[in-house]
Amino acid sequence: MVKGKFVTFEGCEGSGKSTQLRLLAAYLDKLGIPYIMTREPGGSPIAERIREIILDGKNTAMTDGCEALLYAAARLQHLHERVMPALNAGKLVICDRYVDSSLAYQGYARGLGEQYIAGINAEAMKDCPPDLTVFLDIPPDRAFERKHGADENDRMEKQGMDFHMRVYAGYKRLLEKYPRICAVNCGGTKFETSEKIIALLKDKGII
Ligand code: TYD
Repeated sequence: MVKGKFVTFEGCEGSGKSTQLRLLAAYLDKLGIPYIMTREPGGSPIAERIREIILDGKNTAMTDGCEALLYAAARLQHLHERVMPALNAGKLVICDRYVDSSLAYQGYARGLGEQYIAGINAEAMKDCPPDLTVFLDIPPDRAFERKHGADENDRMEKQGMDFHMRVYAGYKRLLEKYPRICAVNCGGTKFETSEKIIALLKDKGII
């Protein structure tokens, strides 16, 4: 069996990833393409437990370094438990966030640096790089306006707008650096954006 393709989705808070992933799933179902859809942090029982710790709004004492290592730990577990088996079975794997989230959020926005984040995510970056990364391009100020503000119980969402603008700037730098990342402008309707994503996946030979 030929190894399946690995596609990751990235974007700032409120960029509409969940909606787009739902629309894409409906399209893949219609076509009968074998795929799994999963998410980070989480996607497997152990990784979902790590997710609860990371996102818990009460964990205000968490250091940036601890946060970065927990994302990397959850990623590794998810990779081995869920992503790699599906790829090895020839399935298309669609993942909501992956290593670029760590590079943008922890590397750039938290200021831990790209090199450090790449180091603690070396296995994911080298052994399981995405075939394509779709970046849903909408600046966080516009995205929050659309979703009517941040979720105050979510430790990451409730970071200030400066933080989210740094995340966005980080993604822009990653876009310049990695040709596998493609930006999709999502200023239009959700259906227009979905059509753009499907066209991109076809153009890149994913579906
Ligand atoms: P989630 O509720 O899944 O947010 P979204 O719907 O925007 O994807 O929470 C994931 C949060 O974790 C989100 O704020 C982005 C952040 N994150 C990182 O900071 N680093 C990472 O490596 C990953 C995977 C996510």
